[in-house]
Amino acid sequence: MNLEDISNQIKVCEKCILSKERTRAVPGTGNPNSKVVFIGEAPGYYEDQEGIPFVGRAGKLLTKTLNELKINREDVFITNIAKCRPPDNRRPTREETTACTPYLNLQIDVLTPKYIVPLGATSGEFIFKKYGVPWTAMMKENGIIKKVSTIFGELRILPVIHPAAVLRNPHRTEMFVNALKKLI
Ligand code: URA
Repeated sequence: MNLEDISNQIKVCEKCILSKERTRAVPGTGNPNSKVVFIGEAPGYYEDQEGIPFVGRAGKLLTKTLNELKINREDVFITNIAKCRPPDNRRPTREETTACTPYLNLQIDVLTPKYIVPLGATSGEFIFKKYGVPWTAMMKENGIIKKVSTIFGELRILPVIHPAAVLRNPHRTEMFVNALKKLI
């Protein structure tokens, strides 16, 4: 199985109610050979329209900040915990996450990343739990790399606050940028 096979499965998935209201599923985009994977929470309005993650306001902030750090979003892989937009941009429920994360796990198995960057607490908690690392809170974990060993070798997990949280509170810009700088 490759990333395209997984995307094709996601595009026709009907495992949870989010499939009923979506315009498009948002499997993930980027370099299939990248060893760096960014994982957000779930698509918003513009992502649902375009089928591409992080293209709305929060995504533009992420892309701009990465560019300032000389990281091109085409060179990394970007996806989400939930591949379809929850109504009113609410958090995905436990049932939706349980239904959807087998796709994320498959994507991670195929990509065998060296870095995973969870954006925000929903993603941070899921990834920490997956690798057996205790989660505290986003404000405590932001920018702190956790090294874990996997059957594919060492993996570094770098939790970063969600760019939407930075838009809500611009005072968090510095902690967002400083956390992302740990990648370079
Ligand atoms: N927020 C997310 O968590 N993911 C997206 O793709 C867009 C906004």
